[in-house]
Amino acid sequence: MSNKARFTRNILCIGAGYVGGPTMAMIAARCPQYRVTVVDVNPGRIDAWNTDQLPIYEPGLLEVVKIARGRNLFFSTEIERGIGEAEVIFVSVNTPTKTFGAGAGKAADLQYWEKTARDIIRVAQSDKIIVEKSTLPVRTARAMERILDANDKGIHCEVLSNPEFLAEGTAVNDLDHPDRVLIGSHETETGIGARDVLVEIYANWVPRERILTSNVWSAELSKLAANAFLAQRISSINSISALCEKTEANVNEVGRAIGMDSRIGNRFLRASVGFGGSCFKKDILNLVYICETYGLHEVATYWESVVAINDYQKRRFVQTMLRVMFNTIAGKRITLFGFAFKADTGDTRESPAIDVARKLVEEQAHVVITDPQALQNAEKDLAGCRSQVTFTEDPYKAAAGAHAIAVMTEWELYKALDYQRIFDGMEKPAFIFDGRNILDHRELHEMGFNVFPLGEAALKHF
Ligand code: NAD
Ligand code: UDX
Repeated sequence: MSNKARFTRNILCIGAGYVGGPTMAMIAARCPQYRVTVVDVNPGRIDAWNTDQLPIYEPGLLEVVKIARGRNLFFSTEIERGIGEAEVIFVSVNTPTKTFGAGAGKAADLQYWEKTARDIIRVAQSDKIIVEKSTLPVRTARAMERILDANDKGIHCEVLSNPEFLAEGTAVNDLDHPDRVLIGSHETETGIGARDVLVEIYANWVPRERILTSNVWSAELSKLAANAFLAQRISSINSISALCEKTEANVNEVGRAIGMDSRIGNRFLRASVGFGGSCFKKDILNLVYICETYGLHEVATYWESVVAINDYQKRRFVQTMLRVMFNTIAGKRITLFGFAFKADTGDTRESPAIDVARKLVEEQAHVVITDPQALQNAEKDLAGCRSQVTFTEDPYKAAAGAHAIAVMTEWELYKALDYQRIFDGMEKPAFIFDGRNILDHRELHEMGFNVFPLGEAALKHF
């Protein structure tokens, strides 16, 4: 039987990263009637997707991939062939912060994005539905349409916005049971037709009432706004953590008290050394840049302060370490428990641990890094200061001989370690800085540690 006869739709995704891979694996697993192909310019990544050593660590993902891979899910570097065959093309390439020219440091770098539009229109021989999966500045669809419309083949490409809300570490569950799926389209006949196709794809497993439709611009902007709101909550609670440390209030108690107000809600109120990840900072700065270009300077300043508080929190964490360790950490061995930007991922993009490690190295400390999944990425992130950094997967080895431990990532395993054994092997006085407030501080203090939680009183022996 030919592919055409076997499958009712041919779906392509350009970009096999943290979003493209898991999203397409879920569609393929849930919809055996569709043929789903994921293409990428990076052959190493594609090779890895075709093995059981997937290129990203994400709990439960291999099981989902295995349901569909080779059946109706294919990973390939044949981009042109994929474009030629597909009727629906998701684009989930990276849209990092621009590092050069106008808007450097804030605006989204759309070069990878634009290249896909040009690839599509060069190769396409039939009408396509193009789905923006990447996070993009509001009104990007217009730019894409201009490129796609500039063809003399008589082909029409309808652009939809379908931003992705999955979080790393919980991607499989987020994709399987999304709070909502958002689809933005134009209110034209072709726009509504394309929207209905995408609704039908998701409706294979997502309840209809969770599939939300809107205009294209609302969908594009909703993604930036959602990330800005989430990050804003973390900066809000982190700003309160600084005040708690001055006043003997306890940020966990404050978080619980305000979170029980149903108008506020209890999620995303965990004080931390700072938020990380590839999205929050990039998307807020992109929002700031967009506001600036529309002359909305007050709005830009408001959102920029969310990033400023995050930088402050990371700086403050290291300043506390330095101050309480007698204003010198030169030559001291300091162990970071965790390097990933959150638990259950090996991703270290914008991880607060990067800034903390670099600042400790500037103070001439010797930094030891341990993490169950992120050491490979950590080695790349700290390539510039390798002589002052050691990496080891075993937390006990990492802590042996250390003057201090700083918890950077809330991995479950760090809650269950034998801290008496760790304490016995450390230099004294021994310090613990809990950048995630996950440890039993009282118990550690009783063992002899000097404990510095975030946003609550320190437990010291001096
Ligand atoms: P990523 O860097 O992991 O993956 C992007 C992939 O696109 C890379 O493998 C790259 O090689 C490939 N690529 C780039 N240009 C290409 C081209 N012209 N043709 C084919 N392949 C190309 O990025 P990601 O984390 O998956 O993020 C992708 C997009 O999704 C970004 O816009 C991001 O903001 C957004 N997003 C990310 C997350 C997340 O948790 N990581 C969540 C929601 C949305
Ligand atoms: C985020 C958004 O949640 C997701 O919807 C979007 O699609 C991509 O960006 P992600 O960055 O993968 O997802 O993880 P998230 O769980 O949002 O955590 C981001 C950072 O905030 C992490 O460093 C996390 O440790 C930190 N965080 C989160 C806190 O410090 N406190 C909290 O209460 C929650």
